[in-house]
Amino acid sequence: MMIEPVVDIFVDPAWIEQALRADVAEGLSARPKELPPKWFYDDRGSELFDQITRLPDYYPTRREREILEREVDVIAERSGADTVVELGSGTSEKTRIVLDALAATGRLRRYVPFDNSEATLRNAAADLAAAYAGLAVHGVVGDFEHHLCHIPGGGCRLIMLLGGTIGNFAPAARKDFLAAVASTMAPGDTFLLGFDLVKDPDRLIAAYDDPAGVTAAFNRNVLSVINRRLDADFDLGQFEHEARFDPDEEWIEMRLRSRCSQKVTIGGIGLTVDFASDEPMRTEISAKFRPEGIASELASVGLAMERLWTDARDDYALTISRMVG
Ligand code: AVJ
Repeated sequence: MMIEPVVDIFVDPAWIEQALRADVAEGLSARPKELPPKWFYDDRGSELFDQITRLPDYYPTRREREILEREVDVIAERSGADTVVELGSGTSEKTRIVLDALAATGRLRRYVPFDNSEATLRNAAADLAAAYAGLAVHGVVGDFEHHLCHIPGGGCRLIMLLGGTIGNFAPAARKDFLAAVASTMAPGDTFLLGFDLVKDPDRLIAAYDDPAGVTAAFNRNVLSVINRRLDADFDLGQFEHEARFDPDEEWIEMRLRSRCSQKVTIGGIGLTVDFASDEPMRTEISAKFRPEGIASELASVGLAMERLWTDARDDYALTISRMVG
């Protein structure tokens, strides 16, 4: 029997509009200029990201799938979960691997997707409710940095953050995020985290600067999002895509570099900004990790890493942790 999905909404279009205005006003007034990566993902941006995951040099998606397929029965068994909470569920592509394994244990009851796009979440919720008879789907439309406290409790939960999304947080925000995850967890809940590993910088850069220009188009797409939603006049052709590895921070930094001296007006917030020729603007960090580092970050919020798995080439890792004591 199919159970109708329930969806709780904490971010509506007005909230999103307000957050975008604030991020753009703050980011374009900062030195150096900066835009947060969460605004990449309108329909076009999500489509471009999907294409990125299929690029030969973009390994994280394939590596994560490899580990998940290999270890999912162990993960299901260890978690003992009847509920899967998926943070940043998106199109819930890898979700089925986990749901299938939990269904096989006979315990699966509930799926809680958490995403900031209501349309994306409703689609995923409907698909999964239809595919898994008897599965209660309780979606939450919210923002990672504000609404984790609204994730429904009860049952034994496996909370997952996959895809390497953790890499998008700057260190301080990452700590806050992990603390918020830990504070939603009850004894018995587990946290499954997927993260990209530090490796040869040439391979990292190849993953973020493909010859076909898909990543460049994805990067510039943030400008068209701002053009459309905040009535701005960015000329996409006047910004160059750049991916750098910062060896001290151990993160990939994506930038858009102004090709000339230019003025951009963002009508929706009454802001005019000047870009100098060659001026860089940071659009994303994608942090790369070492297992010891992740273990200590988890420990600092009261989570003990129980298992760590990597793919055959040690490119990427999945770890499961739970509250200490
Ligand atoms: C979705 C944040 C995991 O950092 O690898 C891909 C986004 N940016 N190519 C990543 C991304 C450029 C991706 N995450």
